Amino acid sequence: MSRIAYVNGRYQLHGAASVAIDDRGYQFADGVYEVAPVQAGRIIDLKAHFDRLGNSLGTLRIETPAPWPALELICRETLARNRVADGIVYMQVTRGVAPRDHGFPKTPTKPALVVSAKPMAWPTDPAQDQGAAIVTTPDVRWGRCDIKAIGLLPNVLAKQQAREAGAFEAWFVRADRTIAEGASTNAWIVDRGGRLVTRPLGPEILPGITRATVLRLARAAGLEVVERPFGVEELLTAHEAFLTSTTALVRAVVAVDGKPIANGHPGEITRQLRGLCLAHYRDAGSA
Ligand code: PDD
Repeated sequence: MSRIAYVNGRYQLHGAASVAIDDRGYQFADGVYEVAPVQAGRIIDLKAHFDRLGNSLGTLRIETPAPWPALELICRETLARNRVADGIVYMQVTRGVAPRDHGFPKTPTKPALVVSAKPMAWPTDPAQDQGAAIVTTPDVRWGRCDIKAIGLLPNVLAKQQAREAGAFEAWFVRADRTIAEGASTNAWIVDRGGRLVTRPLGPEILPGITRATVLRLARAAGLEVVERPFGVEELLTAHEAFLTSTTALVRAVVAVDGKPIANGHPGEITRQLRGLCLAHYRDAGSA
């Protein structure tokens, strides 16, 4: 079966679909995106993804490409046409097509919208996670990492650095030696006091939807949670470390720059949270 993508009002063969060379996303990375998980045909936490997309668009003063119910229908239709019941739906909005000129187009452009879908099998057993190795890398990104912008060059280079080191992810280290987040994940530890620690929201990190879910699930499970920055030294002596994202869910971090975290195996709290997160995907509606 051929993959189908929604591109500016039309469903097209994914491989043959194209956008204009003057699209500002192509020229300037002037656009934003979202990745939402889909399980058993349900888009998980759709409202949270739409809220974040609305914030990204609003901050960049890009018009919302369609009313939210229409965008939801486009996502569902794209999933249906691709027969994706388990996987992800990808949305990308750019400022649209205009002759190349850095400032906003003088005549307002119609934002360009692309929606695609990809099948993915979600894990069923939290114990399947063997844990991931990560590397650290200097955070050379811009000052608005809270916007889910399509300009991802530092993230691309960081992920490649990780892959070449045989690792799954790279965590960005800021000038003050604190960890911001990963190339495509949020960063967490269980500190030596047994508290769950993740960086507070701010311009240095993306407000991860999985991060918010894990915070909520952890608090509901009675775990002590602190939103504060942590550094590389604290990471290396942490009881546990893990990362979160839509596609990785909760995944243990067992080695950093070749050094093991704790005993080098996924920790108990990480496993518990992974189980809770998997259950959330199974049980949550399109809230
Ligand atoms: N990445 N931090 C960054 C820089 C990210 O790109 C992502 C998501 C996250 C986690 O956010 P969430 O829990 O909402 O997925 C944190 C997506 C999945 C991607 O780029 O494919």
